[in-house]
Amino acid sequence: MFRAGLRRLAAAAPASVALRPASFSTSASSSFAASTVAIANPTSQHTLNVSSAQGIVDGFVGAIGNTPLVRLRHLSEQTGCEVLGKAEFANPGGSVKDRAALYVVLDAEERGLLKPGGTVVEGTAGNTGIGLAHVCAARGYKLVIYMPDTQSQGKIDLLRLLGAEVHPVPAVAFDNPANYNHQAARHAANLENAVWTNQFDNTANRRAHIETTGPEIWKQTAGRVDAFTCATGTGGTLAGTTRYLKEISGGKVQCYLADPPGSVLHSYLSSGGKLVERSGSSITEGIGQGRVTDNLQPDIDLLDGSLTIADEKSIAMVYRCLAEEGLYLGASSALNVVAAKEVAEKLGRGHTVVTILCDGAYRYADRLFSRKWLTDKKLIDAIPVELQHHIVLP
Ligand SMILES: Cc1ncc(COP(=O)(O)O)c(C=O)c1O
Repeated sequence: MFRAGLRRLAAAAPASVALRPASFSTSASSSFAASTVAIANPTSQHTLNVSSAQGIVDGFVGAIGNTPLVRLRHLSEQTGCEVLGKAEFANPGGSVKDRAALYVVLDAEERGLLKPGGTVVEGTAGNTGIGLAHVCAARGYKLVIYMPDTQSQGKIDLLRLLGAEVHPVPAVAFDNPANYNHQAARHAANLENAVWTNQFDNTANRRAHIETTGPEIWKQTAGRVDAFTCATGTGGTLAGTTRYLKEISGGKVQCYLADPPGSVLHSYLSSGGKLVERSGSSITEGIGQGRVTDNLQPDIDLLDGSLTIADEKSIAMVYRCLAEEGLYLGASSALNVVAAKEVAEKLGRGHTVVTILCDGAYRYADRLFSRKWLTDKKLIDAIPVELQHHIVLP
């Protein structure tokens, strides 16, 4: 079943581009498409794009992936490159983590660890929990989430309203058995028909990006991609997409890790694996890592380098993307866009650079657009004066 699921998703990527016309040759859609064309300006590119939307998909799971690849117009003009963002906020659960959530569940099904009515257990405070909540509801599983009790009530409420059982537990280091990840593992081990999906070290996560994100990017750019960059939480997105793009291009696509302050990976990569320095902390959420996860390990040597991106640049880009591109993005996406711009500048004019727009800013608005929060974080002066009118919250 998992293989079939994978094949369907992988096939969906090319199909969304190559097979769209065929989907209009059947049933009601063809007459609708024809009438749309008849009343619209036939030269309108907008109409053509809207009318080639993908056909019917099977429920929530079928709606995962096949996200648009958005040309960032201002940054492309500024750099003389094509700077492209994969619009992962357009996934049905709202983030790039829908892909990993689906794959870890399908993987558990295929390995016989999860049977109808079973329970998925995960340690997460963020988008993986949201993706899992949707996927579990759609496939008839219960979901149990462990998270550090330092997380906001808003996150707990959201996961609960999506149907998850949430356990906030004391925030202790990974080497402490009371750490939320270990508690999640024990919970699953003590329950019949339950699985700890273990997003950090379960490589079904990375496989989601080898089989969907990578092929979609390759297809959408018609193989004309020179570089790819993104940040890592579990490392699944960076590792899987890098693996696919390196293999399909014979190593030509350059791939770069983008790291926030407080993560060890930039120092690890730039020192050839000798250093694991953790300096500072970051306002970004869902990214930054203290170790090389099993998802990142197989592909870390494929990387061409890494960039470290200061919070001042990321927050300014949140506002720039909103004002210049109309894109309301979270801070990890903005960090990725800064990284894509820097890679484009490094490569020089005429190149195509792709990054990931992980999620929208909806869950972070009370911080990213709050004058008090920005002042407390000493980031208010990083927002260009002409964009400060977007700071509307006290
Ligand atoms: C907002 C956001 N951006 C980026 C990532 C990183 O993705 P990955 O876990 O594939 O490295 C995450 C992961 O949770 C996330 O929540």
